[in-house]
Amino acid sequence: MCGIVGYVGTPGKTPSAVGLVLDGLRRMEYRGYDSAGIAALDGKGGMAVEKRAGRLDNLAEAVEDANLNNYESTTGLGHIRWATHGRPTDVNAHPHVDSDNKIAIVHNGIIENFAVLRAELEADGFGLRSDTDSETIVHLLHREYYGDGENRGSIDKSVRAVANMLEGAFTIVIAHADHPDRLLACRRNTPLVVGIGEDAMFLGSDVAAFIEYTRQAVELGQDNIVTITKDGYTITDFAGTEIEGRPFTIDWDLEAAEKDGYDYFMLKEIAEQPHAIADTLRGHLHNGRIVLDEQRITDEDLRQIEKIFVVACGSAYHSGMLAKYAIEHWTRVPVEIELASEFRYRDAVLGPDTLVLAISQSGETADTLEALRHARAQKARVLAICNTNGAQIPRESDAVLYTHAGPEIAVASTKSFLAQVTANYLVGLALAQARGTKYAEEVEEIFQDLENMSAKVEKTLEQWDNVNEIAGHFAQNDTMLFIGRNVGYPVALEGALKLKELAYIHAEGFPAGELKHGPIALLEEGVPVIVIMPSPKRHPLLHSKMVSNVQEVQARGATTIVIAEEGDDSVIPFADHIVRIPECPSLLQPLVATVPLQMLAAEIATQRGYDVDKPRNLAKSVTVE
Ligand code: F6R
Repeated sequence: MCGIVGYVGTPGKTPSAVGLVLDGLRRMEYRGYDSAGIAALDGKGGMAVEKRAGRLDNLAEAVEDANLNNYESTTGLGHIRWATHGRPTDVNAHPHVDSDNKIAIVHNGIIENFAVLRAELEADGFGLRSDTDSETIVHLLHREYYGDGENRGSIDKSVRAVANMLEGAFTIVIAHADHPDRLLACRRNTPLVVGIGEDAMFLGSDVAAFIEYTRQAVELGQDNIVTITKDGYTITDFAGTEIEGRPFTIDWDLEAAEKDGYDYFMLKEIAEQPHAIADTLRGHLHNGRIVLDEQRITDEDLRQIEKIFVVACGSAYHSGMLAKYAIEHWTRVPVEIELASEFRYRDAVLGPDTLVLAISQSGETADTLEALRHARAQKARVLAICNTNGAQIPRESDAVLYTHAGPEIAVASTKSFLAQVTANYLVGLALAQARGTKYAEEVEEIFQDLENMSAKVEKTLEQWDNVNEIAGHFAQNDTMLFIGRNVGYPVALEGALKLKELAYIHAEGFPAGELKHGPIALLEEGVPVIVIMPSPKRHPLLHSKMVSNVQEVQARGATTIVIAEEGDDSVIPFADHIVRIPECPSLLQPLVATVPLQMLAAEIATQRGYDVDKPRNLAKSVTVE
């Protein structure tokens, strides 16, 4: 949700700011695409600013027209917006600039007390141009820096003073034309990382902003202010006390963040799923035991757990539904699955004997973060599954298992979903092992089954042409239904979500047994129904029930697209189209069954002429509630 790039380089040695910041924004585009903007300092007290509504290409064109590509500057910042306050217009785009064109700021987050601050500024004679909460920040800085108070003339003190005035969530990067050797930034509740380059320093909402230049980074804590110059960085808290950041090395490279010959990142990310599974498993079985990446609670604490809540949003929530099946089956501990956005607003019974499993690709999702804070405040333990090293959610958790899906650029999750499912199963095994409900050999056997899933996903990818052909029949439909039972039900929900968000088709997922209790009324001639079939060998009872369900829908005129195991010929009479998936243990079937649904959504969206990587109205990480 909003992407930020900052850069301070060395004249004559490191690239010029405008091109570098634009490139950084290009890689952050998945964080928002309502508008984009850039500011660069010329080192002599001047500042160039361009901003445009819409995609980054609009900004690139404006930069070209203004001949800014040749602007001599090695200090710049940029922003890509996902609109919260104010429509996506040129005026509301960031950077926001003060009345003297000296200070520029970019902001990610929400300033909750902005109405009060805005009224105060207006009473002081400041004219605000935009409808955003963010613009107040630049005028507050102006008031501190140019006012008669103790902060006059000090950019450091002014930033500190303003940071202390703000409520809500914010990452702000600040440039002052009279201090071209530095950028300042402060953060609370939204992400910011520092990149350490050679003769250059960087800021980014995430490391994709500067991955082309360095893999050395520093993680900032809550309520930190950082100043970067070409030579280094200093971090303080909001009171000005110096503190240390946490250095880390980024374990993926630029190539991983580029399209690699695919038309869309999403297609590349679908194809990368066998690796996402394998990489997520790697290193987690050690001497016959499942190990988490970080564990700040003891196995004894895990043995005391009497109830588990899984909290997550969107696709991560669907992955969490699968955690429930696995954890209850393997540990016999009751598990409830909750949408994070609902969890904290009801009075769930929480305490030291409750474990909250928080699942988030980005590790920034505000709903999930606030849910875990709510749980911790009531002494519950929190275990996070996250794809982003050092993000806020894992930092605030008692234990962490990182998924290693690599950077996911397309807004819709694909490989991170399969990696989350894999990680959920690992957490289930870790709990079973800690509580003694599974013997070491059983844990190893299931781990082996999980390892085998990479090859099975690879095999499923061979269905791509078949799925594309099927997609051609339905690209113009305006409704699609998905049905599954047991672990097939979350798969149905995930398939429907993918179709909604990418192809803007009304799609719904149902437990197949529930159809006859209402939704079957939606069926009429030609409505496509996608059916996730359980294995006839591994789950014969469920399979026979599903066969009845497919017959029911077909009898009412629906066109059936059946995702069925190789060799399951019983479905042939009832399937208008079949997609084959390899046989695997029932609990693990979602890892293969989801893949054709991702392909289907991507292909239908493409055939309808939509940008698969950047669905309308969405942002990759949702840092507002
Ligand atoms: C759907 C999708 C979203 C995310 C959700 C949670 O394709 O990507 O539904 O799954 O916003 O995001 P994270 O996992 O970053 O917390």
